[in-house]
Amino acid sequence: MSFGLRRTAATSVAAVALFAASVGAFAKTSHAAAGATSASEHAALYSASQATAGSKAYGANCASCHGVNLEGGVGPALTGATLNTLAKNTKLSVGDMFTFISQQMPLNAPASLSKPQYTQIMAYILKYNGYPAGAKELTYVAATNSKVVIHSAK
Ligand code: HEC
Repeated sequence: MSFGLRRTAATSVAAVALFAASVGAFAKTSHAAAGATSASEHAALYSASQATAGSKAYGANCASCHGVNLEGGVGPALTGATLNTLAKNTKLSVGDMFTFISQQMPLNAPASLSKPQYTQIMAYILKYNGYPAGAKELTYVAATNSKVVIHSAK
């Protein structure tokens, strides 16, 4: 699986959504029901210390391509409007994103980091995008299975 493939799928999803929207009130209601909740409404997924470790691991392994502030570079931005557009078009969950990162990234050395490093980096990306920290650490399994929607508060 790659987000490239997902983007192709998203194009047809978007076309279907446009068609559904023209059908009228029913489509509007179901769209609203499926709408994403804001990041801060979610239960805490990770701990603050995990995100701090993730900041370092991100800096060492991801920032060269995705920017020090996740603003993008050779790779796409992992925050703000870019992330929200991707998330909306693909109904991206934390699990989808984490699976992609842990299997495909870093682009020049896929799956080369440790499980704790990947979960720390995920925690950092969540923190950066406005998700709250809590008492419990994010585990590799929980990150892989998370259905929480991706949304950037930036
Ligand atoms: C050598 C450059 C490079 C490094 C290092 C790198 N990436 Fe990427 N990353 C890319 C490129 C290029 C893409 C776009 C690939 C595609 O769309 O198929 C990408 C795509 C992504 C995506 C999907 C975003 C989207 O909009 O499709 C995520 C998430 C991601 N990278 C996270 C990470 C994380 C986390 C790390 C560090 C562990 C990392 N990347 C390291 C180059 C890199």
